[in-house]
Amino acid sequence: MQPAKVGLVGLGAYAPERVMTNDEWSRYVDTSDAWIVERTGIRRRRIAAEGETTVDLGEKAALAALADAGLGPGDIDELIVATDTPEVYLPDTSSILQHRLGLGAVPTYDLGGSGCAGFVQALDVARSRVLTGKRRVLVVGVELLSRLMSWTDRNTCVLFGDGAGAAVVGEVRRGGEILAVVAGTDGSRAGILGLEVGGTRKPFTLERAQRDEHHAIVMNGREVFREAVHHMSEAAQQVLELAGVTLDEVALVVPHQANLRILQAVAKALDVPAGKVFVNVEEYGNTGSASIPLALVQARAAGRIPAGALVLLTTFGAGFHWAAALVRF
Ligand code: ACO
Repeated sequence: MQPAKVGLVGLGAYAPERVMTNDEWSRYVDTSDAWIVERTGIRRRRIAAEGETTVDLGEKAALAALADAGLGPGDIDELIVATDTPEVYLPDTSSILQHRLGLGAVPTYDLGGSGCAGFVQALDVARSRVLTGKRRVLVVGVELLSRLMSWTDRNTCVLFGDGAGAAVVGEVRRGGEILAVVAGTDGSRAGILGLEVGGTRKPFTLERAQRDEHHAIVMNGREVFREAVHHMSEAAQQVLELAGVTLDEVALVVPHQANLRILQAVAKALDVPAGKVFVNVEEYGNTGSASIPLALVQARAAGRIPAGALVLLTTFGAGFHWAAALVRF
């Protein structure tokens, strides 16, 4: 029998302890706190400790989500890990995390390479899996972007941070129902944000590694900015329409925390007051697929999500992918 309502049964997040300030970045690259704050709103980000890995971060967020749901590993039927920074190249991160968490022989898979959109895309998949018979799906969004990026490229390195977030998706009785999800992709824009070296087009070689090309994130910042604002606001409007809800009824918008100017432009495009948009990018930077669950957990802890509140999630990522979801807590 189909569950009546499917949604977020539990949420959890984890951010590494080490805080890295903008001033610290100015010791590595030609930048300044003033430039970074003015262009991005970012003041600090978390950086994983040496030896700390994707699975370490993901495990902490997953355990927090299970505890929040009052569930144990035996209550999970499937695991999806959204990440662009896998534990190892092969196998995928989800199989290693499955074993670490003691989930048993449940099926698991990674949703990789869709950047910051990964978590909401995975929620969409998880929701449909529960609607078609799984009891609960554990969704983890985790990134160690400090290992992916070049520490000598000021165009990208100052933007990112490390973190993890997780959600248990299952039947909900009291709150957390996912009312609607929309998602889309425009592969013609794949070239404006990505990392080529290490794939089959540009295999990893010693020469490329010596030139640090395996860390060379290609990013057309202005194009990414434009696409992000357009798709995040359009997806938000579409999901509201799908659910038959107006923005006035929404208590809080929790957007992907890419940078403050993008969030302000999305708020303007949607015509929502800044106070209705949750922002923590100044503390964490852009944590990719961890960004939305990390923000959700913090918004709830800060009392910004009262019972019954409608919360709108909207995100975009390399690909270009976008996704938005509407949740009633
Ligand atoms: N410190 C100092 N100067 C810098 C830095 C830095 N960290 N980074 C770039 N610059 C310089 C550039 O070298 C360039 O100098 P030049 O003009 O001499 O060549 C200049 O600043 C660029 O200035 P602008 O183009 O005016 O910068 P802009 O206002 O566009 O801001 C930024 C750049 C912050 C990257 C912006 O375009 C942006 O936010 N884009 C979106 C990027 C983003 O969010 N990426 C992550 C997406 S991943 C995801 O979330 C899916």
